[in-house]
Amino acid sequence: MNSALRSLTCSLPRLASRSTSTTFTRPFTLSHIRMSAPSVPVPTDFNADLYSPLAQADPEIQALIDRETYRQFRGLELIASENLTSLAVMEANGSMFTNKYSEGLPGARYYGGNEVVDELEVLCQNRALAAFHLDGAEWGVNVQPYSGSTANFAAFTALIQPQDRIMGLGLADGGHLTHGAFTPKRNISASSIYFQSLPYQVDPATGLIDYDALEKNANLFKPRILICGASAYPRDFDYARLRKIADLNGSYLMMDMAHISGLVAAQVQNDPFKYCDVVCTTTHKTLRGPRAGLIFFNKTKESDIEKRINDAVFPACQGGPHNNTIAAVAVALKQVNTQAFRDYAAQIIANTKTIAKVLSSHDYKLQTDGSDNHLVLWDLRPLGLSGSKIEKICDLAHITLNKNSVPGDKSAMVPGGVRVGTNALTSRSMKEPEMEVVAEFLHRAVQIALQAQEESGSKKLVDFVKTVTEGEGASRKALQQLSHDVNTFAEKFPLPGVPDSASIKRVEA
Ligand SMILES: Cc1ncc(COP(=O)(O)O)c(C=O)c1O
Repeated sequence: MNSALRSLTCSLPRLASRSTSTTFTRPFTLSHIRMSAPSVPVPTDFNADLYSPLAQADPEIQALIDRETYRQFRGLELIASENLTSLAVMEANGSMFTNKYSEGLPGARYYGGNEVVDELEVLCQNRALAAFHLDGAEWGVNVQPYSGSTANFAAFTALIQPQDRIMGLGLADGGHLTHGAFTPKRNISASSIYFQSLPYQVDPATGLIDYDALEKNANLFKPRILICGASAYPRDFDYARLRKIADLNGSYLMMDMAHISGLVAAQVQNDPFKYCDVVCTTTHKTLRGPRAGLIFFNKTKESDIEKRINDAVFPACQGGPHNNTIAAVAVALKQVNTQAFRDYAAQIIANTKTIAKVLSSHDYKLQTDGSDNHLVLWDLRPLGLSGSKIEKICDLAHITLNKNSVPGDKSAMVPGGVRVGTNALTSRSMKEPEMEVVAEFLHRAVQIALQAQEESGSKKLVDFVKTVTEGEGASRKALQQLSHDVNTFAEKFPLPGVPDSASIKRVEA
């Protein structure tokens, strides 16, 4: 680190607790606004384009945005890692903050002109602590990570050295790529390229994390970091047990709560902050903000942890913070700390349970036989169908979900299941009765897939797709009807960010 940077980062202010106002925080009053000055004329020179609205400046991109808006409106979004954020978040994300460079931290920046950005970042930090009910004397947060993946890598960089050992839930068992994923031939993720990784697994019989096997293997492998959190795990985590295993082996316990952070904030899932040293998250899944990441760190155990985390984010892993995104994260975090958000989070779980109940009533196999969070993992192998086929059929019917490996899959290339999440539909104000309709749509999709597989006389995906898109059989007509029913149903519900659904242009490619 160069000396200028070192002196900057050494003089970083400690993060304020949520109850303490900081030197940067000013109450917003109208007295701060200098009222109307005459307009400066818009230039007519080489800068004229800088003032055109998008539709005029770039109709091609505007048309793609219109198509995407319509796709989201008329379809059913069931991808468990997605959500539909608010108008206010999108406004902040598209704001003037996009113009500003602010490497460093509040009060200690490389560049000038950061007095407003400093206020913004401290406000965002305080809102992040408040959203997760944290005391600023115990916990700090870095709000600059560009995404969940970079947040995780920055956390590793802060905590351990290259080639140190990490343990996370295996990819095929529901873990995330960034938790050390590798294949026999390739280290897929930077987390396995730069660190030694040993996955832990779920018990194939129950689908639940096999904590006993994890304890045994951790005892041998001695990971420097034990990672919890997942991308496709329908149950909650036993943090007390994980803490015990971490302590037995001198490991840090790091939670990546990306998927469930909205549920954690709303206190409808167990609290990782009671047990973990570091907690990372994305901000765009159940938390319903813009696309970004956060790193929370417990300040009470290691006196230099705050500086290590902050230095790992910048300059080790990132450059200038995306202040427009930080503004949008702050907006989302304010929304998180409301009763409305807690109601939404509780509804997500009620909705998932309803989908699980209806699918189970049709005798489908769900991993762990149900769900405690925002997703179900649907094992299609007993039906002789692959996840890819159901993903494809659903896509053609404007239901978006993703193929997912299920524990025991022979090949990661042919996942045997699909992941179904309820975040986005809950954000469209759908509740239990609507989930029953959605689950019946999914049931129809599977029945159509079975029929198409029979009609095509082949197990290949290309033949299958040809059958449902060009074939003469009943499956093609049934799929068309399903698609029509999905559109009619979906278009009855509001789309977050669009106050007037009549303004949505019905445009297709
Ligand atoms: C558990 C978990 N961590 C991290 C990430 C990565 O987040 P991003 O796509 O923002 O890098 C994901 C993405 O789905 C995830 O599921």
